[in-house]
Amino acid sequence: MRKQYDNGTVAVHELSLVVETGTITVFVGPSGCGKTTLMRMVNRMIDPSSGTVLVNGTDVRESDPARLRRGIGYVIQQAGLFPHRTVLDNVATVPLLFGQRRREARSRAGELLELVGLPSELGKRYPAQLSGGQQQRVGVARALAADPPVLLMDEPFSAVDPVVREGLQDELLRLQAELDKTVLFVTHDIDEAIKLGEKVAVLRQGGHLAQYAEPDDLLAEPADDFVTSFVGRDRGYRRLSFVDSDGIRTGQVDTVRVGETARPSVEWQLALDADGRPRGWLEPGTTVSGPLAEDQLVAGGSLYTEHAPLRGALDAALSAPSGLGVVVDADGGYVGVVTARHVLDLIERRRDATA
Ligand SMILES: Nc1ncnc2c1ncn2[C@@H]1O[C@H](COP(=O)(O)OP(=O)(O)O)[C@@H](O)[C@H]1O
Ligand SMILES: [Mg+2]
Repeated sequence: MRKQYDNGTVAVHELSLVVETGTITVFVGPSGCGKTTLMRMVNRMIDPSSGTVLVNGTDVRESDPARLRRGIGYVIQQAGLFPHRTVLDNVATVPLLFGQRRREARSRAGELLELVGLPSELGKRYPAQLSGGQQQRVGVARALAADPPVLLMDEPFSAVDPVVREGLQDELLRLQAELDKTVLFVTHDIDEAIKLGEKVAVLRQGGHLAQYAEPDDLLAEPADDFVTSFVGRDRGYRRLSFVDSDGIRTGQVDTVRVGETARPSVEWQLALDADGRPRGWLEPGTTVSGPLAEDQLVAGGSLYTEHAPLRGALDAALSAPSGLGVVVDADGGYVGVVTARHVLDLIERRRDATA
């Protein structure tokens, strides 16, 4: 399909693609490449200049716009909440619009707030009394209120700070595992695209489709220079998120227990709690008199849970003060250590095996 605005701007040149039902498809590309135009052509806020949009096999132009939008939730940046309505009424808006009784709509709204991880007491507040991240969650709850099979999300998390954004992303993945919506998610952030997308469409100016692939393939084989520069120099590192860690060699390190006496050592020693969970590192040469206390430890790096993708192992090794990434089991108990060298060796062995 194509969209040319009245002033002559071609926002979407010729785009043709099929989105899989029940998956998250991410559209990623720089600002102005036509992402918002594309989303709005799906729910008929904008009509294409030529071409068709099919939702579930039906041309959207043949559906009644109000009915169509009922089946398509829409979440935008800054949440777009009504400032003078309470959070609960914001979420209840759509069901009310479609004739649900106020009581039912409100009780459903309360459930939806919980579904998106908000305490229902927040329902009484006004949007301005919530944090940015909370407002975005309300936006998601509102979009889900009519239980639409399709969700359009246009840069929904772009305005919140990175830590909150990660929480919202995790929440979306959790929700999606439960709800199985068909989600079209727009972002300009390649990391977000790779984390959320089961398939990722990389767009460049004019709504040109540069590549449409699963994240791992996008990182492994960028289609052209544009995609290569967009996924970035560190794509090899990003790709580790998808590489399993079978065959990684873990080593062992001396351990000490918090609350027990520790002998000085010329090596780094890993401190564990009574349940065998890592608490931090004891620096070489540290003398400890009496039982080992937590404030004598150097904070550890990130932990790597066995069998998780390789990126976590490298992160653990690179972030540990000792250079030894701590490997834990599913219960958080110490299993062993890995070095960045181990991780790189494994990658090299894999490469030799496939070469
Ligand atoms: N209503 C409009 N009239 C004219 N040009 C528009 C209009 N809306 C968007 N555009 C232009 O279309 C292009 C794509 O915009 P948009 O879809 O908002 O991109 P994105 O969401 O990727 O930033 C841009 O060049 C933008 O300036
Ligand atoms: Mg946009």
